[in-house]
Amino acid sequence: MAEEIDNIKALFNPRSIAVIGASRHPGKIGHDLLKNIIEYGYKGKIYPINPRADEILGLKAYPSIKDVPDEVDVAIIVIPAQYVLEAAEECGEKGVKVLVVIASGFAEVGNEEAEKKLVEIARKYGMRVLGPNIFGYAYTPIRLNATFGPRDVLEGPIAFISQSGALGIALMGWTIMEEIGLSALVSMGNMADIDVIDVSKYLADDPYTRVITIYLEGLKPGTGKRFIEEMKKVTRKKPVIVIKAGRTQRGMSAVASHTGSLAGTDQVYNAAFKQAGIIRAYTVEEMFDWARAFATQPIPRGGRTIIITNGGGVGVLATDAAEINNVPLIEPSCELRDEFRKAMPWFGSPRNPVDLTGQAGVDNYVKALEIAFNSEEIDNIVLLYCRTAILDPRELAKAVIEEYEKHRDKGKPLVAGFVGGIDTLEAIKMLNRAGIPAYPSPERAVTSLAKMIDYKRYLDKIK
Ligand code: ACO
Repeated sequence: MAEEIDNIKALFNPRSIAVIGASRHPGKIGHDLLKNIIEYGYKGKIYPINPRADEILGLKAYPSIKDVPDEVDVAIIVIPAQYVLEAAEECGEKGVKVLVVIASGFAEVGNEEAEKKLVEIARKYGMRVLGPNIFGYAYTPIRLNATFGPRDVLEGPIAFISQSGALGIALMGWTIMEEIGLSALVSMGNMADIDVIDVSKYLADDPYTRVITIYLEGLKPGTGKRFIEEMKKVTRKKPVIVIKAGRTQRGMSAVASHTGSLAGTDQVYNAAFKQAGIIRAYTVEEMFDWARAFATQPIPRGGRTIIITNGGGVGVLATDAAEINNVPLIEPSCELRDEFRKAMPWFGSPRNPVDLTGQAGVDNYVKALEIAFNSEEIDNIVLLYCRTAILDPRELAKAVIEEYEKHRDKGKPLVAGFVGGIDTLEAIKMLNRAGIPAYPSPERAVTSLAKMIDYKRYLDKIK
């Protein structure tokens, strides 16, 4: 068992990697994956294995893994399924710790026998197997991108585990576009051996990961109980957000033919997630919205929340979202209302939402933020903005970032909802880059905060 855990560590911190099936031809998976490993900046040793080549992408190639004059921690297998077992056997003899099997053509197409044999070989030599039928994995703290997805994965504290290959690759590109920083990205495929639980357990203690996100289609039969027990331990340490596909009857049959997992009824999964303290998202957008908040903000001390806005409408929408999502909006005391009055024209409202009015400029926002950060009545702040001609969102973003930096040590989560045009989107990017989760709608900001408050309630409950 200790060896198994060590081997999972080796997956994330390999001293050397061999690519079995490294190809000489650009456009082939074995070529592009090797190129990603080299170009993304992995510092360990890289050994291309290919009996038909002497050199690939400037690296010396070896005919077999057994010819490599060094120990190999991870072997990435990119040759057709019918040759994988023989290669696995050689890896075992070589003392490889983890096999990362990219090849398709196993249990997902009814070839259970080969998949079973693959695991048997791995067990015989004390190896672990990631896959088969995967697009690889990335771990940004060591600049490792062993996928055939996009090269430039953005570094950050969000781990993403995907049971779907194509969607995982697509989301890799999406996280780059959305500037969502990842610590790890792991394609699970058929989960013949290493499963979502193993990877989550490792990431729970990973210092570079603050939140774990999972695209899940289904668990392997018989692993439900272990999932709940082990994930309970993970969620004590870090928030886990799962998007579970196959919610409908038709969705479930699609899952069965995709990864061969049991989709199970949606209620069963809901109950399991609840018991394990897992936060369930229903869309990809939700999952990454919430992850962004967890990635940058402290866990709330409590639920008491204030909304600060320059627009009544977005304030009302945020209020509804807060009510629906169980976010307690405070009723400011007389003293606090008097304070907020100093941040607004006479026709503003110092209640909750604090309405700075459409006339609000940078100074009004900065003053209101300062009051909110300093108030003992407030745990969390939702900052809203509607594009007006008199206040450029980028100027506001700059001022908000400065004010936030002054009060960061107070440990109060701040989320922002900025609504407007192109320049508003630029302001949202500025805020996100500075570590303030910002969204293009009030509801998305409030819902993200709501999940953090829920997580705090969960932690309090299990204490
Ligand atoms: N050891 C080392 N190298 C070998 C061996 C061997 N035993 N046998 C062949 N090679 C070499 C080949 O010569 C070739 O190199 P070359 O191009 O320089 O000649 C290279 O290894 C690859 O072998 P090919 O036979 O050309 O295999 P190909 O690249 O066509 O396919 C692959 C291999 C990619 C694993 C394929 O079989 C496969 O399974 N594809 C699907 C992968 C996939 O989609 N996985 C799921 C991802 S998730 C998603 O849905 C996107």
